[in-house]
Amino acid sequence: MENYIGIMSGTSLDGIDAVLVETDGERVRLLDRTTAPFASGLRDRLLALAAGGAVTARQWGELDTALGRAYADITRQLLASSGRRAADIRAIGCHGQTVWHQPNGELPFSLQLGDGNRLAAETGITTVTDFRRKDMALGGQGAPLVPAFHQCVLAHPERLRIVVNIGGIANISVLAPGRPVMGHDVGPGNMLMDLWCRRHTGVPFDRDAALARRGTVLPALLARLMSEPWLALPAPKSTGRELFNDAWLDARLSGDEAVADVQATLAEFTAAAIAREAQGWPAGELLICGGGGHNPLLLERLTALLPGWQVNTTNAAGVDMDAMEAMAFAWLAHQTLHRLPGNLPEVTGARRHAVLGAVHFPD
Ligand SMILES: Nc1ncnc2c1ncn2[C@@H]1O[C@H](COP(=O)(O)OP(=O)(O)O)[C@@H](O)[C@H]1O
Ligand SMILES: [Mg+2]
Repeated sequence: MENYIGIMSGTSLDGIDAVLVETDGERVRLLDRTTAPFASGLRDRLLALAAGGAVTARQWGELDTALGRAYADITRQLLASSGRRAADIRAIGCHGQTVWHQPNGELPFSLQLGDGNRLAAETGITTVTDFRRKDMALGGQGAPLVPAFHQCVLAHPERLRIVVNIGGIANISVLAPGRPVMGHDVGPGNMLMDLWCRRHTGVPFDRDAALARRGTVLPALLARLMSEPWLALPAPKSTGRELFNDAWLDARLSGDEAVADVQATLAEFTAAAIAREAQGWPAGELLICGGGGHNPLLLERLTALLPGWQVNTTNAAGVDMDAMEAMAFAWLAHQTLHRLPGNLPEVTGARRHAVLGAVHFPD
């Protein structure tokens, strides 16, 4: 077994998660985890960038450096809390901060910031970054990359399990006994709920769905949201803030809705888009991970929309829901260092399996 560190900061822009795991590629054990919010200046700059605003090359480069530093800080924090030294760690797998994900069209790309050179040099640990673009170079979506890891840690010999990661975007992995894993993005996770809550209350997310619970679902608005053509596209598919953003939401609002009603409708939309994916399968287990697993309304609505299913967080199946994605990138770093594939062509649409990532040596 070797020790790896995984670092994830997702599209919710809530902060950075870091984990220490022990793995041989088949078994993965979580040893420690920590999380740190972004410094508020950094978060605001990332939000502005994700909104597609103009940015200079200088601002771009400075963000890359600032993120590299933030990732190095959290690594040092994790080493200290776990009593490990750099020499104990085989490698860091750092997803980086997605600033733009454009999987289709003439010039597809997915760009994550957070300088891996700096992370390797500051920590003294071999660092793997840039996991998505090899898959894209092979015609894939570059996403989602977590299904292979979900299969590794959660596949059950007899039971159908669908793992739903509810981060900024929601993605599913279908683990059906005896069948190749399937997976794709399903639509917004917390992203629309977060942006509406932030816009109207100044608070970054609707904690415990308190605001949504004060409203009622607006059926006409829900129908407009559900009619988004992307939702009906066949897999492979991936998406991000480039589609599900302020402009997308505003185009579907009449403007005279009550704030709490919109919040309730966005929560229902998020749950309904996820449930729709599971409804095509015989009832099994729906296992939730990511921050959305802390939203009690989402869990309630998924339970109601999926009669016969057991809806739970991945904690119930033995994998920490808050550590899952960072653990996946620790595992992906293991794959890279052992020159093993990280992507699943049947998930991403790439032409073949590939060893993913750019490796930065500390020496
Ligand atoms: N108690 C809670 N109630 C409602 N939503 C929550 C709660 N805790 C976390 N969240 C949601 O989880 C999000 C963070 O999820 P996370 O999995 O870290 O996403 P990402 O991978 O995009 O960073 C927050 O922005 C928020 O929407
Ligand atoms: Mg997060």
